Amino acid sequence: MTETTKSATLTIDGTSYDLPIFTPTAGPDVVDIRKLYGQAGVFTYDPGFTSTASCDSTITFIDGDKGELLHRGYPIDQLAAKSHFLEVCYLLLYGELPTATQLEDFETRVTRHTMVHEQMINFFRGFRRDAHPMAIIVGVVGAMSAFYHDSTDINDPWQREVASIRLIAKMPTIVAMAYKYTVGQPFVYPRNDLDYASNFLRMCFAVPAEDFEVNPILSRAMDRILTLHADHEQNASTSTVRLASSSGANPFACIAAGVACLWGPSHGGANQACLEMLKEIGSVDRIPEFIARAKDKDDPFRLMGFGHRVYKNFDPRATVMKQSADEVLDLLGVENNPILQVAKELEKQALSDPYFADKKLFPNVDFYSGIILEAMGFPTSMFTPIFALSRTVGWISQWKEMIADPQAKIGRPRQLYLGETMRDYVDIENR
Ligand code: SDX
Repeated sequence: MTETTKSATLTIDGTSYDLPIFTPTAGPDVVDIRKLYGQAGVFTYDPGFTSTASCDSTITFIDGDKGELLHRGYPIDQLAAKSHFLEVCYLLLYGELPTATQLEDFETRVTRHTMVHEQMINFFRGFRRDAHPMAIIVGVVGAMSAFYHDSTDINDPWQREVASIRLIAKMPTIVAMAYKYTVGQPFVYPRNDLDYASNFLRMCFAVPAEDFEVNPILSRAMDRILTLHADHEQNASTSTVRLASSSGANPFACIAAGVACLWGPSHGGANQACLEMLKEIGSVDRIPEFIARAKDKDDPFRLMGFGHRVYKNFDPRATVMKQSADEVLDLLGVENNPILQVAKELEKQALSDPYFADKKLFPNVDFYSGIILEAMGFPTSMFTPIFALSRTVGWISQWKEMIADPQAKIGRPRQLYLGETMRDYVDIENR
C-alpha cells in the first residue's frame, strides 16, 4: 500500500480522529478505517458494501460513470476484439500480456489438464437428471478437493499454480458434463487438438454416433463471451471467493462458493432470467406492460439484464455483446430473431423512459448474452454455468492475489445489533 500524507478527520463526541486517505492509481480516494474501532470504539455501517473497499487489487478496474472496464489496464473492448480467452486468462493471472512463447506454454499446460479424474463421473450419477446444471457444478467443483489433494496446500506457491491451471482447464469439461448429464447423452472427452472454446462446444454438442465439426463462427463467439465474463473486480461472487479463502479453505472449496453465489438472479443468474423474461414479453407490443411493472414500487418485477451496482453508464461488455449478437445471428442466418427484436426495442424504450434514465439503469452484460447462447443451441439453464466457466479465471486470479498478500487476514465483519439486550432464561412453566 502506498504511503499517504492525506487524511480525513472524524469528530465524535468532541474527539477528533485522523483517518489516512489513500489515493489509488485510478478511481476514488479511499479512507482507511482499519484503526477506527480501536481508536474510537465505533463501527462503520455499509450493508451491501456500496461505499466500502474490501481490499486493494491490481487486476481489474471499472469506471462506472464512464462505462470503462480494464483488465490489468487493457480496455475490455480491445481485448474482446484483438485477444482471446486464454490470453486474457494469462493476463489476469500474471499481470502482463504473454509473449508468443509464454502463451504457447500456458495454452499447453491448460490443454493437458482438461480431463477430470475418471472417478468423478460417479458424482454426476448421484444427481437427478432434471437437476439444474449449477447444482451439479457447485457439487462437483467442491468435490475436486477430494481428488486433487496435491494442489490444496495454499501456502505452497507451486500448488497454488497447479490448482489455478486445473480449475481453468477442467471447468469446461465439468460444465459440459453437467449439460450432457441433464440431456441424457454420454460424456464427451476433451480433445488436445482443439482450442479452448472449440473444445467446450464439442464436449457439449458432439455425440458418439457421428463426427462433429465445430462451427468457427460459434467458437469465436463463445471465446468472446468467455472473455467478456472473465473478471469484474469485487463483485458478489468474487467477494465470496475472497471471504472463503480468507479462512484458509482450499481453492476448490472457495471456487465452489463463488459458483454458488453467482447462481443468484441478481448476479450471474440474470442471464437465464433475462432470456426467460424476454420470452415472457414475447412481442414488442407487450413491452410497455413490462416497463410499467419494472417501475411499479409495489411490483417486485425488475428488468433482468438491466442496472448495475457500479455501471451508471453503458456496461461496455453489453455493447460488445450486442454487436456480437447481431453478427452471430446474421452469420447463422437467424434472420429477424423475434427475441432479439424484443430485446432491442425494450432497450430503446427503457432508455428513453425517465425512470431508467434518472436511476442510470442501462443494459448489463446479461442483457444480450442469452440471445447468443440460445442461438448456439444452449438451453437457458446453461447460461449461468457458462458465466461460471468464464469467471473461474477471475475468481482464481483474485484468490491468488489475496493469498499471496502477507497482510491477508480472515474476513470477519461486525454488525449494527438491534436485538434484545441481556435477559434471564424463563422456565417453560412461567412463559
Ligand atoms: C452481474 O457486481 C458485478 O460486477 C456483477 C456483474 C459481474 O460481472 O460480476 O456485472 C454481473 O451480476 C450483472 C447484474 C445482473 N443482474 C441483473 O440484471 C438483475 C436486475 N438488476 C438489478 O436487480 C440491480 O440493478 C442490480 C442487482 C444489478 C444492482 O442493484 P443495486 O446496485 O443494489 O441497485 P438497487 O437495487 O439499489 O437499485 C437502485 C434503484 C432501485 O430503485 P429505488 O429503490 O432507488 O427507487 O434502481 C431500481 C431499484 O428498484 N432498479 C431497477 C432495476 N435495477 C435497479 N428497477 C427496475 N429494473 C431493474 N433491473
